[in-house]
Amino acid sequence: MIVRATPDAVARAARRLRDGELIAFPTETVYGLGGDATREQAVAHIFAAKGRPRFNPLIVHVPGLAEAEALAVFDDRARAAAERFWPGPLSLVLPRRPDSGLSLLASAGLDTVALRAPAHPVAQELLRAAGRPVAAPSANRSGRVSPTTAAHVRGEFGDAVAMILDAGPCRVGVESTVLDLTGGIPSLLRPGGVPLEALVALFGRIETPAPDDATPRSPGRLPSHYAPNRPLRLGVTEARPGEALLAFGPEAPPGFAAVLFLSRSRDPAEAAANLFQMLRRLDRPEFAGIAVMPIPEEGLGRAINDRLARAAAPRPASVGYSPRRSGS
Ligand code: TXA
Ligand code: MG
Repeated sequence: MIVRATPDAVARAARRLRDGELIAFPTETVYGLGGDATREQAVAHIFAAKGRPRFNPLIVHVPGLAEAEALAVFDDRARAAAERFWPGPLSLVLPRRPDSGLSLLASAGLDTVALRAPAHPVAQELLRAAGRPVAAPSANRSGRVSPTTAAHVRGEFGDAVAMILDAGPCRVGVESTVLDLTGGIPSLLRPGGVPLEALVALFGRIETPAPDDATPRSPGRLPSHYAPNRPLRLGVTEARPGEALLAFGPEAPPGFAAVLFLSRSRDPAEAAANLFQMLRRLDRPEFAGIAVMPIPEEGLGRAINDRLARAAAPRPASVGYSPRRSGS
């Protein structure tokens, strides 16, 4: 349902976010599909609604620097970038604070998080009223262009999104620039609303990695995807000695050293919400490996299987695990 973004409608949208629901809202770049970034289930529903075939980390939206500093570690560079470009179309990839309370799925399991303070007054009002960080990818289905009007959003999701806040067309019209500040040299992960020249003016040198990752990663870069240290075995129906199990469904086969249930009721959204957290819990030296039961290749199951397959693939010993970094 499209609703004009009056103060009353924004307050209702904020309540829905706090209740764990998804709402679509305008930013100065594109419309976003937002959910409470501290709730794994809300974030899982974002991925389900978008129909993304894989889990890419999402941008977490906050009103400003003060709120952002509670979620990630800001060094002098990060603070300078935020002071110069926030609120505005720049997302900063930074180390997550261990006590951030953020959903691990929002970061696709990584130790980093992309943060942005949007400049749109409706987005600002919504974030302040919600009083919590909001994970929001562009409000389009996977593989389609980002929406810049409320009608576009409805065209993407129909009635699957309960509330679309309408504030007219977006001013910038392209997504935010994504800048990774977790390494030595600031690295442009996605060109966007803040031009590269403006970043170069602030930082001097900016690295621009090939988007398709065709070239080898420079040393010291953080991997763009989380993978456990223990070997992963997929589609498992029988135990091997010392293995821990990620179970899917009501029952686990016997003989595993430990068992965690991704979802006893076979709910892929619940499994997605548990995935990274449970992988981390089982990624311990006392286990010979992590086995995962078969997960049906449908809906969010596809994204779960994609991520597990990448994590199970052999990794080059010298450069660490750094598979494709993909856009969204
Ligand atoms: O303008 C925008 O940024 C819009 C509006 C709604 O704010 N949002 C948006 O979000 O475009 P999304 O989820 O469609 O794009 C997120 C981008 C992806 O390219 C993703 O790979 C990158 O940010 N990203 C997010 N977190 C990351 C992280 N921890 N490390 C590396 N890249 C990250
Ligand atoms: Mg997008």
